[in-house]
Order: sequence, then structure tokens, then C-alpha cells
Amino acid sequence: MLEIENLTVEAGGREILHDLSLNVMSGYTTVLFGPNGSGKSTLLMTIMGFSGFKVKSGRIILNGEDITDLPVNERAKRGIGMMMQRPPNLIGVRLKDLVQVTGKGKVDPVALAEDLNMSAFLDRDVNVGFSGGEIKRSEILQLEAQGPCLLLLDEPESGVDLVSIEKLGVKVHELLQGPSHCAGWRQRSGKAALIITHTGQILDYVEADRGYVMCNGTVACSGNPRELLGEIRKMGYNECIRCKMNRSNLIREIA
Ligand SMILES: Nc1ncnc2c1ncn2[C@@H]1O[C@H](COP(=O)(O)OP(=O)(O)O)[C@@H](O)[C@H]1O
Ligand SMILES: [Mg+2]
Repeated sequence: MLEIENLTVEAGGREILHDLSLNVMSGYTTVLFGPNGSGKSTLLMTIMGFSGFKVKSGRIILNGEDITDLPVNERAKRGIGMMMQRPPNLIGVRLKDLVQVTGKGKVDPVALAEDLNMSAFLDRDVNVGFSGGEIKRSEILQLEAQGPCLLLLDEPESGVDLVSIEKLGVKVHELLQGPSHCAGWRQRSGKAALIITHTGQILDYVEADRGYVMCNGTVACSGNPRELLGEIRKMGYNECIRCKMNRSNLIREIA
């Protein structure tokens, strides 16, 4: 459903992603691992279509349509939603108003907020003075209102204390199961997700089908997410860097 084909991306005059390819299947949860600075957030921002990330080559295909050059609002309309790692403060924008707009007036911000224990935040400016956990809950609230079919979650558990992680994990699970409001999707195609996780804690709450490991701006390996996490915990990212080097050598030899 989402196909990333040989993507090379530049930001701030630097090439950050190099010839990166991966797929996220409809109805499946895919997890992305990788050390700090490997380009995970850049990949998600590029898929969502944020300005500042310039695609030098390669394509992003959603349900057979090339969306590489579409603006962010068109991608959102087609059913992509994102939880950012560090969303900005929106001074002068009340959370209630944002949720109303995101839900196109069809959702009840009060009821959604109550369920997420966010009622007291509805009249506050989005993210201004929110704690780490409150920011994540606010992001979930906005995603619930939008109801996307492809969820891009950038480290949903980062900045959240140990006790709140369980509640957040359950909410993310519900979000993946919950209703979606995207037009033009085939009836049977369920929600899909691409989740970046540093710690792997989110895997205790969501069922992930496939995992990718990124190193130095490209995919180094893929496989069963739990097995990958086990390897990373045991050996760090060295094995993946080795695996990528072997692959590069192989490509060089073939060339
Ligand atoms: N706008 C930008 N200008 C210059 N460098 C950037 C920009 N955005 C990201 N980078 C750099 O790209 C690399 C990958 O960043 P990022 O995608 O945030 O990694 P990750 O999410 O895997 O930690 C980092 O070295 C970061 O500093
Ligand atoms: Mg990141």
C-alpha cells in the first residue's frame, strides 16, 4: 500500500537518506529501528510531505498513486496521519479548535478528550507547557479526530514515564484498531502503521508484523521485529552495519 522506492532525500543542503526502499502493507504494522541520527524522523517527515525535505530521486507510492510531489494537506486527505517526535508549540491555537478542524466538525472534542484524560487541555494552546506524556496524548487525540488509514508514529513512547507508557501503549493499540475516515480506500484495506521505536517498548502493546533497521540513512536489514529487537539488545547496531556493508560490497561486486 505504501511503497518507498529508492528514495534519496536532502535537508539543510545535506543528503540524509540514500537510495532507501521499504514497504508498508495495508492492515499491517511495520516497525523501524535505528540508532540516533540514522534518518528515521527524516523518512517519516518526507512521507508526510513536510517542507524542508527535498526528494532528489526515488518515489513515494500510496495505493498505486505517486504522491512524491503532493503537499502535506493532500497526503493527509488521502489518509496519512503522523505523530511527531517533537511537535511544535502552536501559540494562539487552542487544542479544542485544532481537534474540531482535524475531525472536520464530525467528532466531539470533549468526548475524545475525556477518554484520553485531556479535558483540562482543550482550552490551552497546543503543546504550550505540556509535559512529554501530555504532548503524546495530545497527538493521539488529533489522530483520533483525523482517523487516518496510514499512521506514522515517531517514537510514541519517548519522553513518557514508565507508568504512563502502559496507558499510552493501550491507546496506540486502540488507535490502530479504531475507525478511520479516509476516502478512496478499498473496503477491505485496514489501517497500516509505520512506527519508529528506540526502546521497542511499544512492541508490548501493538502487534508488529515486519521490522526494518536503518543505518546511515538507508535500510540495513529487515525481518521479524521481535527477533530484530532481540539482536539489537544483544549486539547493538553493529551487526546491522556489518550486514549493510556486506550488502554494499555485494552490490559493488555485481556492478
Ligand atoms: N533540516 C536539516 N538540516 C540539516 N541536517 C538535518 C536536518 N534534518 C535532519 N538533519 C540531520 O539528519 C540526520 C538524521 O536525523 P533524523 O532523521 O532526525 O534521525 P533519527 O530520527 O534517526 O534520530 C541527523 O544527523 C540530523 O542532524
Ligand atoms: Mg528521530
